[in-house]
Order: sequence, then C-alpha cells, then structure tokens
Amino acid sequence: MLNGSGTFDAIAARRTFGDEVLERFPFDAFVSKTITLAPRQGNPPPRLWETPAGLINSIGLPNKGLEGFLSTDLPELAELPVPLVVSVMGFSHDELAQLVAGVGERDEVAMIELNVSCPNVETGLVMGADPAEAARAVELTRPLTEKPLIVKLTPNASEPQAVAAAAEAAGAEAVSLINTLKGMALHPRTRSPWLGGGSGGVSGPAVRAIALEQVYTVARAVEIAVIGMGGIQTGRHAADFIEAGARAIAVGTESFRDPAAGTRIADELAVISASERGISESPTPPAGARAQT
Ligand SMILES: Cc1cc2nc3c(=O)[nH]c(=O)nc-3n(C[C@H](O)[C@H](O)[C@H](O)COP(=O)(O)O)c2cc1C
Repeated sequence: MLNGSGTFDAIAARRTFGDEVLERFPFDAFVSKTITLAPRQGNPPPRLWETPAGLINSIGLPNKGLEGFLSTDLPELAELPVPLVVSVMGFSHDELAQLVAGVGERDEVAMIELNVSCPNVETGLVMGADPAEAARAVELTRPLTEKPLIVKLTPNASEPQAVAAAAEAAGAEAVSLINTLKGMALHPRTRSPWLGGGSGGVSGPAVRAIALEQVYTVARAVEIAVIGMGGIQTGRHAADFIEAGARAIAVGTESFRDPAAGTRIADELAVISASERGISESPTPPAGARAQT
C-alpha cells in the first residue's frame, strides 16, 4: 500500500499531528511529491476544482528543486518508518539524468519513480505518451543508479501498454498507473477557465473504471510489477485492482477526505482476502467494509 505522489504531505502531517503519524503511518512505502531540477512556484490559484466524483487539480509541481529537496525535505522524509520512493520529473533528458543521479546516490532513497507526464522540451512529445520517448528516458537513467526505477504512466496515452512494454524492455523494474486525466472546469459566472493553470488533472472515483481497465491491460503486457491506482476508496476497490493484475496499490485523492485511508483500505482488503481464502479471521467485518462491499 503506497500513496499516490503528491497526495499526502508526510512532513506537514507530522508537523500537525506529531509522532503519532510515524507510529500509525498509513502506507507501506512513501512516495514523495514530484521534484524537478529547478525550484518551481507551481501554478497560480485556484488550484483545485471539486467534480461530482473527484477532483481536478492544477498544482503545477511546486517544489524546492533537487538541491532544496536533498537538503531540506530528504532528512525529514528519511525519518519515516517505511521505504522512501522519490518521484522526479525532467523537462529534458539532461534534467532527468541530473535528477536520477542526484537522488540515486542517497542511501535514504529506496526507489525512484519517473513521472513522465510532461513534454520533453527537446522533442515536444510527452515522454510517457510515446513508447520510444519513455524507453529513451529509462535507457538514459538506468545506468545512473542501482535503485529500482518505477515509470509512472500517464493515462493520456493512446496505448499505455505499449509505453509500459517499452519501459520494461529498457530496464524499468515497475510501472505505476494511472496519473491524472486531462480535464477542466469553467468559472460559474465569468465562464472562463476556473483553474489558474487553465486545465488540470482529474482524479478520484471518477477515474476508477478507466484506471482499472488500464491496469488490467498493462498487467497483461508486462512481467514487471504493476502498481495500480486511480479512485481507490475501499478494500473492495483495492481487491479489484489486485485481481486486475496490480502487485501493489496506491491511494491518492481519498487521503484528502480521510488521511488514514491507507490503513483503513489495507484493513478492509485483509478482511476481503481472508474471506475469499475461506478463512474467517473476523466473523463480523468492520462496518465500513460491510457498507462498501
Ligand atoms: C492534488 C494532487 C497532486 C498530485 N501530484 C502529483 C505529483 O506531484 N506527481 C505525480 O506523479 N502524480 C501526482 N498526482 C497524481 C496521483 O499521484 C495519482 O496518480 C492520481 O491522482 C490517481 O489516483 P487517485 O484517483 O487515487 O488520486 C497528484 C494528484 C492530486 C489529486
């Protein structure tokens, strides 16, 4: 059970709730929010729009940049009780290489996730939407670190399974999916785009059926591990993703509604798995699990 990158701020949570967050940490591994080589302010507000079944976000990757992350955030994230995955995004191959080399030499980091949902400024192609671009990104970074590389796939690709297969052939150890789908909302009065960034990414229950289909298809195209996410809110949803072929799952938008969602969903999943194996560990499943199955 992981978090979706950018959806759980472990440093702010610890600052707010204290060390109890570490004692009852909701995930088995923690994925940092995506960092870039240079610091970024992110997009102008407003950055969120609530849809009937999810969110559109246009956060724009605000972060301290590689140097700021290594000096300020990494020491705090290293105190988490679980392995750390650092998510990186480069706008060129050179940027990506510097990020992977810089993060990869740190012992505190267990794995690196390549967020390839952005255009390569050299080719104009979104790295994760094109199999050859994705392969190139992995080929370039694979020799720079011994840490496992996860490629975070974008659903805004015509054939995510082809991108996944290209990432696998180039040496990635895992793929994670889905990232957000493109979406937008108009201001109710002015009728111009609501989000400061113009458009944004849709997440939450609205995308779950799409995510499940993509996980199912990708899991049949590769042998490496698939980390499934997209609208998971309950143990039943998590069980569906595992049945579809995910070897691990991640929770994103649901953590905004329920910061302990990771723990709750894992508990619900354990009850479901036990009952499906015919083992009655708990004759009466927790009320939450019952209502949601
Ligand atoms: C507010 C917000 C910020 C996000 N930031 C990132 C990010 O920095 N890097 C990334 O790879 N994905 C990011 N995502 C995408 C999530 O990690 C996840 O792939 C997506 O939201 C689908 O899962 P969910 O429906 O459970 O949220 C973000 C999503 C949201 C809602």
